[in-house]
Amino acid sequence: MAERARRGKVTVVGAGFYGSTTALRLAEYDVFDTVVLTDIVEGKPEGLALDINQSRPIEGFETRVVGVGGGSYAGTEGSDVVVITAGLPRRPGMSRMDLIETNAGIVRQVAENVAKTSPNAVLIVVSNPLDEMTALAQLATGFPKHKVMGQAGMLDTARFTTNVAEELDVPVSSVRTLTLGSHGDTMVPVPSRCTVDGRPLTDVLAADRIEHLVDRTRNGGAEVVALLKTGSAYFAPSAAAARMARAVIEDSGAVMPVCAWVDGEYGISGVYLGVEAEIGRQGVKKVVERDLSDSELAGLHEAAEAVRAKQADVADL
Ligand code: NAI
Ligand code: 2OP
Repeated sequence: MAERARRGKVTVVGAGFYGSTTALRLAEYDVFDTVVLTDIVEGKPEGLALDINQSRPIEGFETRVVGVGGGSYAGTEGSDVVVITAGLPRRPGMSRMDLIETNAGIVRQVAENVAKTSPNAVLIVVSNPLDEMTALAQLATGFPKHKVMGQAGMLDTARFTTNVAEELDVPVSSVRTLTLGSHGDTMVPVPSRCTVDGRPLTDVLAADRIEHLVDRTRNGGAEVVALLKTGSAYFAPSAAAARMARAVIEDSGAVMPVCAWVDGEYGISGVYLGVEAEIGRQGVKKVVERDLSDSELAGLHEAAEAVRAKQADVADL
């Protein structure tokens, strides 16, 4: 059998639910040489790495996972991609914004360490509140803005797609949806860009049902938190972050909804915001602009202004 080409190193910082499932997915892709999983807790990433490595003969992948505990960055040096999942998740009743002060301290410290040890990496931030933590990671690393992005839109879009597919009882593969804006109250699900088997969503569902699915998508994270009670979602979120990391190492040019630096697109500048972008070896290759309805465009501008105000605050946290 032909040996699969593997290349590069990806580090996942934070070996909690999000980080450990991301590391597993990245290892199972079998496209990286090495996945490094780190945490401030001693033993946890080492134990998880050992466990994942022992699944290799069963699942048939060769990527090695290395666990590094105690807040050390030894072994992460020269990573091509770094996924930052370190930080508290929310509990029932909390908004993502309630995490801002605590997670800002964590993300700043992690980002400064990454800048020293992996100065050429592409950063994928997932810690919440997402749009603000992405902006902070760029500030703290000083990396070019296109090399720092956040994961939210892939997840929110997947939730929207799932909600539409369940409503119509059709395969998820027949549904295309899109969400833009923030990973929060000003998320902008975009019904005008959604299709089911190529037909506009607006032709197959009544306006009030679409509105219901839009609301459910906006509250998708809280819906899972309310059921779990002790933390937030990680299976769908880790799938999203892992796909982004894979697009980077494969330089695939895949177009994905991500939190990216926006510089003039949609008439918006100087802010990290959920938009579609082409992803490759240098991070964001290009922000892709779509035609939006007037109300969707207004929603995107509203999201940009809400996020801009908060992103200015995090500079001092
Ligand atoms: P978790 O509590 O299971 O794991 C967090 C891990 O971070 C813990 O193991 C903790 O020891 C570690 N950590 C804390 N400070 C650290 C530091 N300075 N260096 C290294 N590791 C450190 O939480 P979970 O479920 O993994 O979530 C992680 C973050 O991801 C949360 O902020 C959560 O809100 C966010 N999240 C974001 C989503 C998105 O779509 N952007 C979706 C789901 C979660
Ligand atoms: C989510 O959307 C909590 O941001 C996290 O699941």
